[in-house]
Amino acid sequence: MKPNDLPIDLPTPYYYYDMELLERTLEVVKTESSKYGFHVHYAIKANANPHLLECISHYGLGADCVSGNEIQRALSCHFPAWEIVYAGVGKSDREIELALQEDILCFNCESLAEIQVIDEIAGRLGKKARIALRINPNVDAHTHHYITTGIEENKFGIYLYDLETVITEILKRNHLELIGLHFHIGSQITDMTVFRGLCLRANQIQAQLKARGLSLPHINFGGGLGIDYADPYRKPIADFQAYFATFARFFEPAPHQQIHFELGRSIIAHCGNLVSKVLYVKEGKNRQFVILDAGMNDLLRPALYQAFHKIENISSDAAEEKYDVVGPICESADCFGKEVTLNTTRRGDIIVIYSCGAYGEAMASRYNLRDLPGSVFSK
Ligand code: LLP
Repeated sequence: MKPNDLPIDLPTPYYYYDMELLERTLEVVKTESSKYGFHVHYAIKANANPHLLECISHYGLGADCVSGNEIQRALSCHFPAWEIVYAGVGKSDREIELALQEDILCFNCESLAEIQVIDEIAGRLGKKARIALRINPNVDAHTHHYITTGIEENKFGIYLYDLETVITEILKRNHLELIGLHFHIGSQITDMTVFRGLCLRANQIQAQLKARGLSLPHINFGGGLGIDYADPYRKPIADFQAYFATFARFFEPAPHQQIHFELGRSIIAHCGNLVSKVLYVKEGKNRQFVILDAGMNDLLRPALYQAFHKIENISSDAAEEKYDVVGPICESADCFGKEVTLNTTRRGDIIVIYSCGAYGEAMASRYNLRDLPGSVFSK
């Protein structure tokens, strides 16, 4: 997957998207999920670039949104409203109105307070809101603590000890239709036993609901499937086969229940690389710095989560040396990797940072009043 065909004469930094790899990935997602009749939504937060969204919607995936603007972006990129789900702990009144007016598939609700507001707004608009309960199942995803979402100390979802009360409240209300359960326990999970744990917890919860006569037509397990950041050449496509097979094996669906997923990273991460140019090579104390024209404003993951991304100098095949690869931002956290082995590097060389299609461009900012990175597509 080394991008030999990179258009290196373009102004850097920019995200370079391998559209062939995206299409191959989507083929695998479709093949593996359709073995079990699973329904996959793309988590727009991972990358909301319209060109990528058009490609993903074309493959028939639904959309998972976390804001009103994401819902609008999904609709404008041809995701049908009835394939859109909407989660988030802080939905504003305006966003709730928009989702109701657009008649999306459902709200994934995260608290009783939110459910009460949705009921009121739906009543005012003369609508019935389809809702699913996002459950905080208290299953530890064993991933970075910033991207763990399914344990009780997190702000996400309805806690198991509140579930009975919440359901009783919903059944009293007139403008709500409870259609499902929703989970999302975290991101960058590569250990399938974590997902097995989620299935077993979901089975228990469904049994509890059945005992009170409730059987819901939809269940949504969120996203979370991780990728191999260390070796993107060897495994450019995530292990969708093992992921979906785990749910098929351990989850016991209610009769006619539709099973949904919301995958972000595993679909788009390996398809995007950040291309940047070396501004300077600077000698430091016992180290050399490669100073790029890309910074933490273009790719925040290493600074925020100490995330590893493979880095290469594609302009040089001289002997290898160790460098700290940093950006131009006024913060010491603006570092893409310490002691990175690169071919001997000089001003003007092109450096590629791999596997940043997910949560790369989407989290870029204009910090230091820098321009946003560009995006370039292989097709
Ligand atoms: N569904 C919900 C409700 C979510 O909150 C997320 C991600 C997903 C689905 C998609 O999860 P994925 O398949 O991408 O793991 N910025 C962090 C990741 C944050 C994930 C937030 N939620 C990073 O760069 O690692």
